[in-house]
Amino acid sequence: MNANVSEIRHPLVQQKLTYLRDKRTVSREFRKLLSEITALMVYEITKDLTTSPVSIETPLENMESPVLSDSVVLIPVLRAGLGMLDGALDLLPTARVGHIGLFRDESTLQPVEYYAKFPSDLSDAVIIVLDPMLATGGSSSAAIGLIKRKGGSRIRCLSLVSAPAGLEKMFVDHPDVMIYTASVDRALNDKGYIVPGLGDAGDRLYGTK
Ligand code: PRP
Ligand code: URA
Repeated sequence: MNANVSEIRHPLVQQKLTYLRDKRTVSREFRKLLSEITALMVYEITKDLTTSPVSIETPLENMESPVLSDSVVLIPVLRAGLGMLDGALDLLPTARVGHIGLFRDESTLQPVEYYAKFPSDLSDAVIIVLDPMLATGGSSSAAIGLIKRKGGSRIRCLSLVSAPAGLEKMFVDHPDVMIYTASVDRALNDKGYIVPGLGDAGDRLYGTK
């Protein structure tokens, strides 16, 4: 596999993904699982963040102890990426949050941007893009292009389910971006859906169709 993708095979992640894929999982449960699996994955993908020591006093003595020194920015891609935000914030409560609104045009499968709002100064921040589905890769690639134009450079992408075609697009468009995913699925179907996949993530999260 390309070095720019890492599949998180942790059994707790894989079990939650199974329940997310299951078509019997209703929106309420889907939202909870998506939040929980995101937290587990965020734990894995932040292993390399830097820390610096601060002075504290335990009940027994003074000590130097580490806290995060990297500034983190979370950027969910609306709508479905919103379902990942709370799980990520549970582990990174001081992270700043940007938002990008994109949807895929159903006939062309091209991303259409409708909203973007970022915290100031992305240049030094570790940026985590949240989007559960990497299908053709058009949406994630466009989102990352936009973040780079706003000055972001330390970008990583967290997707639950990825298709080989979308990963290939990301390797070409953004070879500097590491992609973390719970599964590289078989393919895209003729409508651009990931198979076996989990269906339309936004619709399953919010009960739309
Ligand atoms: C879904 C998903 C990704 C995109 C992936 O969003 O959340 O953003 O499709 O497909 P791609 O890799 O082929 O671009 P969708 O367009 O359904 O919008 P929604 O989240 O608002 O439902
Ligand atoms: N968007 C989704 O929500 N699911 C897919 O399988 C592909 C794009």
